[in-house]
Amino acid sequence: MRILAISGSLRRDSYNAQLLRAAQELAPVGVELELYDGLAAVEPFDQDDERNAPAGAQNFRDAIAAAEAVLFATPEYNSSIPGQLKNALDWASRPTVREGALWSKPVAVIGASTGSFGAVWAQAELRKVLSASGARVAEAELAVGRAQEHFADGSLVDPELRRGLAEALEALATSVRPVLAAA
Ligand code: FNR
Repeated sequence: MRILAISGSLRRDSYNAQLLRAAQELAPVGVELELYDGLAAVEPFDQDDERNAPAGAQNFRDAIAAAEAVLFATPEYNSSIPGQLKNALDWASRPTVREGALWSKPVAVIGASTGSFGAVWAQAELRKVLSASGARVAEAELAVGRAQEHFADGSLVDPELRRGLAEALEALATSVRPVLAAA
């Protein structure tokens, strides 16, 4: 099973990117996570171009379309999701929702923030946007608050969070298996 892992943060030392690297280590047997590195190159959404997307946006759409599921890790910016992630998702929801790359795609959302709550508002917003785009949002959750206390040298060190992350991955993989079996 190929899962695309998308961090909503463009920051080099992003905790959300580190969370996705931990997810790569903890993926269930038979599940491979690939980290997406093209988010910064997605152009501003322009509805005039939705049927002929520019290269960065098309790359984002193609990467989602090629994956069997997508795992998002998002930070919270001002109680919502980062603008560049929302911009990219707008491309992936068009030219119509049913033609969009996210339609019917199994997805899950996790997140990290340096505040206490682990980007829970941003995660809720992201699940709402993904649902509106026709994605199948898995019942998987992980909120890493005070992220600076839970990572050391780029690794997720808290055993409870590692267990929670493994459970979230298993929940996403479980939601994908029937889709794969029916294909
Ligand atoms: C933040 N941060 C933040 N944290 C939070 O818990 N709630 C919030 O609303 C915000 N708002 C916010 C806005 C902007 C513009 C920035 C840059 C940051 C802090 C945020 O959690 C912190 O910077 C994380 O480290 C961002 O995630 P990455 O980049 O480490 O993945």
